[in-house]
Amino acid sequence: MNCINEMRLIMDSKSVNEGFSRVAVSAFIACLDPNIEELTDIKTAVSEAVTNAIVHGYKEKEGKIYITVSLFENNIIRIKVRDKGVGIKDIEKAMEPLFTTAGSERAGLGFAVMESFMDKVRVSSKPGSGTTVCLEKKIWGKRL
Ligand SMILES: Nc1ncnc2c1ncn2[C@@H]1O[C@H](COP(=O)(O)OP(=O)(O)O)[C@@H](O)[C@H]1O
Ligand SMILES: [Mg+2]
Repeated sequence: MNCINEMRLIMDSKSVNEGFSRVAVSAFIACLDPNIEELTDIKTAVSEAVTNAIVHGYKEKEGKIYITVSLFENNIIRIKVRDKGVGIKDIEKAMEPLFTTAGSERAGLGFAVMESFMDKVRVSSKPGSGTTVCLEKKIWGKRL
């Protein structure tokens, strides 16, 4: 796949930045002319990934969140959300719907939401060094 445009964003893991990251990503992908539904899906998936980095990845302490958005020739968008937080021991288990390590505070549906709104969701993680969530979606725009 041939990348035609890319942007990177580094921000503090503060909850105020969650809203900023959705807006920044949606502004960058606007050149592919996504329809409202596609835009909403992508913003929601980005929110879930960024929220996870803030509340699970960095828990009590604070750190940086790294977002890379790449646009490809065939209208595919790839968004990587990376943290250098605690990491995930069992990725398969973490991705199961309703699984959460946050007790009754969280629904455990973040990964399920990402998977239903995006075409591909890949997670790589190492306990102690952090997590990368890679989200992909093809944009059809008005043709859909
Ligand atoms: N960036 C991350 N760093 C560490 N753990 C994570 C991260 N993202 C997800 N997890 C783990 O995966 C679980 C499931 O995530 P998710 O499906 O979003 O549900 P929820 O956020 O409601 O717990 C979390 O409870 C957490 O244990
Ligand atoms: Mg979550």
